[in-house]
Amino acid sequence: MVHHESFQTVTGSINWDDPMYKLYEKAKKIGKWNPADIDFSQDVKDFQSLRDEERISALPLISAFSAGEEAVTLDILPMMHAMANQGRLEDTMYLTTFVHEEAKHTEMFSRWQEAVGIAHMDLSVFHTDSYKRIFYEALPESMNRLLTDDSPEAVIRAATVYNMVVEGILAESGYNAFREIFKKAGFFPGLLEGIDYLNMDEGRHIQFGIYTIQRLVAGNDEHYKIFNDYIDELWVHAKDFVNYLTQLSEQQEKLITYESKINIDPTLLKQFAERQYKIRKSKIDRVRKYDSVEELEKATQ
Ligand SMILES: [Fe+2]
Ligand SMILES: [Fe+2]
Repeated sequence: MVHHESFQTVTGSINWDDPMYKLYEKAKKIGKWNPADIDFSQDVKDFQSLRDEERISALPLISAFSAGEEAVTLDILPMMHAMANQGRLEDTMYLTTFVHEEAKHTEMFSRWQEAVGIAHMDLSVFHTDSYKRIFYEALPESMNRLLTDDSPEAVIRAATVYNMVVEGILAESGYNAFREIFKKAGFFPGLLEGIDYLNMDEGRHIQFGIYTIQRLVAGNDEHYKIFNDYIDELWVHAKDFVNYLTQLSEQQEKLITYESKINIDPTLLKQFAERQYKIRKSKIDRVRKYDSVEELEKATQ
């Protein structure tokens, strides 16, 4: 698109019933938290009270989250560019909140690392080849492709890696693991508060990805195959990273031989991630029964 042909709000109005518009409304209402307002003073005390082996149990997840949030902050813009280019006004409006939210997520983790005194540590040692395949390569590759190619295939692949795998499988599993380990132990209330906010934001982000892929997959087997093949391809790497975290947890569990509040169940992350993978697939799979995007829209309104 070089020139505008017409304007939606001049010839008509915003589609207030559009699911993307509804996400935008939700984001304005409930996405109002400020990472700078979170009190990390108890987290600082908690961190100081832990022994080295206990502290280390938090680091792989923090490392994966910090890089993950930074990556999605840096890589979201091409999606907005593609939606704007296609004249998808409601999608573009919603994405303005999305970009801002990812920036806040990045800020939240960085502030926490600063507060507990680990900001100087290089945590990239926890980024395995499988982690790098997703976050260093597949994510920017698929997203940046949208700058020059906004075909259905390119959009499906971008939303698959960004919304389904990074957010829908890995981030969701990470929040769950964090809560299981630290909420139960009564540690890090500030970080857990931040994670609760993040989790709500991510729910909308994932929903954006689901709608985006669903409308392209309805009535189109070829598009379904693009989604299905790509999520399966990425799942190999996601699973590999989850297995690595599981092995680390097993080792840490053995090191904590004394009485500790930190209780790690190494199998939990794995089980949760597998469940997320299946849920994501089924959300897309179930729209195959519609013959067209119009039929899907009629059924979901
Ligand atoms: Fe995020
Ligand atoms: Fe997100």
